[in-house]
Amino acid sequence: MSLNRRRFLQSAGAAAGSALLPATPFAAPVPSELVAGVFRQQVRDRGADTAVWGFNQSVPGPLLRFQRGEEAIVRLKNRLPQPTTVHWHGVRVPNEMDGVPNVTQEALAPDAEFTYRFRTHDTGTYWYHPHQSSFEQVPRGLYGALIVDEDRPLPVDRELVWVLSDFKLGSDNQPVEDFGKVVDFGSGGRMGNTIAINGKAAGAQQRLQLRPNERVRLRLVNASSARILALDFTGHRPWVVSLDGQGVKPRPLRAPLVLGGGQRADLVLDAGAGSGEFAIWDRRDQGTRIATLACAGSPVRARVLGTPPAIAANRILQPDLQRATRHFLVFEGGVLGMPAIGQVDGRPQDVKSIMERHGLSWTMNYTAQHEHAMMHEPLFHLRRGEHVVVKMLNRTEFEHPMHLHGHFFQVVGLDGRPVGERVWRDTVMMAPRQEMDIAFVADNVGEWMFHCHILDHAAGGMMGTVVVE
Ligand code: C2O
Ligand code: CU
Repeated sequence: MSLNRRRFLQSAGAAAGSALLPATPFAAPVPSELVAGVFRQQVRDRGADTAVWGFNQSVPGPLLRFQRGEEAIVRLKNRLPQPTTVHWHGVRVPNEMDGVPNVTQEALAPDAEFTYRFRTHDTGTYWYHPHQSSFEQVPRGLYGALIVDEDRPLPVDRELVWVLSDFKLGSDNQPVEDFGKVVDFGSGGRMGNTIAINGKAAGAQQRLQLRPNERVRLRLVNASSARILALDFTGHRPWVVSLDGQGVKPRPLRAPLVLGGGQRADLVLDAGAGSGEFAIWDRRDQGTRIATLACAGSPVRARVLGTPPAIAANRILQPDLQRATRHFLVFEGGVLGMPAIGQVDGRPQDVKSIMERHGLSWTMNYTAQHEHAMMHEPLFHLRRGEHVVVKMLNRTEFEHPMHLHGHFFQVVGLDGRPVGERVWRDTVMMAPRQEMDIAFVADNVGEWMFHCHILDHAAGGMMGTVVVE
């Protein structure tokens, strides 16, 4: 470890210790092993601890933090009662390290081990989670954050990582054992009843203590299996500096920050000049107060800081729309609109009855796939270096956070109109009935998943692959 890196970790660790929220273990060395196992953790403040599945005896799993260009070597040991894999969400890895069962590797049987090894090319906030039975394994607690530091990190007083998720718990604080219900596959997904920040139940009692005029970088990951968040920092206007790990021109947050499953955002939050308490809300549904921002003590500096500097961009090839090939992707299904005809696993079928038999609810280009029988044809075959526009037609009444593996893309069109400011994403929220054009350069060779990150939807047929050859 370089001296710089050690110093950085020490200072970050020291600062994190003063927060009242569960401290992110910045100072801990990056573990070389992830052990997926079953254990108990205090999720709710009151009552019994909760039976969870997680990595290295903690939900979220350990923070994996690398420098750009560093080689990540992580040995996964499966101590779960099921097969599993780990996928590095957003990280552009070689295809065979992508952790997708039946596509890039075989799932690890209980007690098996596998070593993942890849170089980190892009800086930013990423995360990791299983790609096997993810509709069950993720909401039980198998996820963690992965950070690749910028060569010159944004100057802030302190940095925090919030891995947001939810648990569906009974009055005994134990998980409700209802994973894989067809009704969840076909509707909004299996929603938890307890939002969690870093594995602890969210609420007013979760306090983020700031000093006047202090500047904090808050890295947010939505690791929920179905929940879409809309975060409102009352009394504050944080700067959005990065989306899905990719720097954006710093802009003040003017409306609640929408984070679908799998999405990330980095905020720069400046405490005000005075002291006081402010609520942080999730504004979706009836609204939930998830934390309290408490500002007190002696000021860190005389006045609040101005616009933060932009994060240096990663090297991502810009798609040229003039010469891009065009592809279409039609989404249908859900409890409000089951398709009538189409194919399952590449064969023409009376889709409705077959889908019902397999617990499938959605189609992409008239096919439905499920992870245990990936006998499908890929959605698209792309040549390496090909510039691509995919027109996604959401013919469902639901929103879908769509995630492409191995690449970043830009949203270039919405409902037939071009989009002015383009940002890089690996997961994008597609509104009900929306038409969305995304563009990218297919420069990473392999077979890559393209799926909805409402994990129940993915299990219900909303997944496919794109081949780059
Ligand atoms: Cu975060 Cu294919 O997954
Ligand atoms: Cu979906």
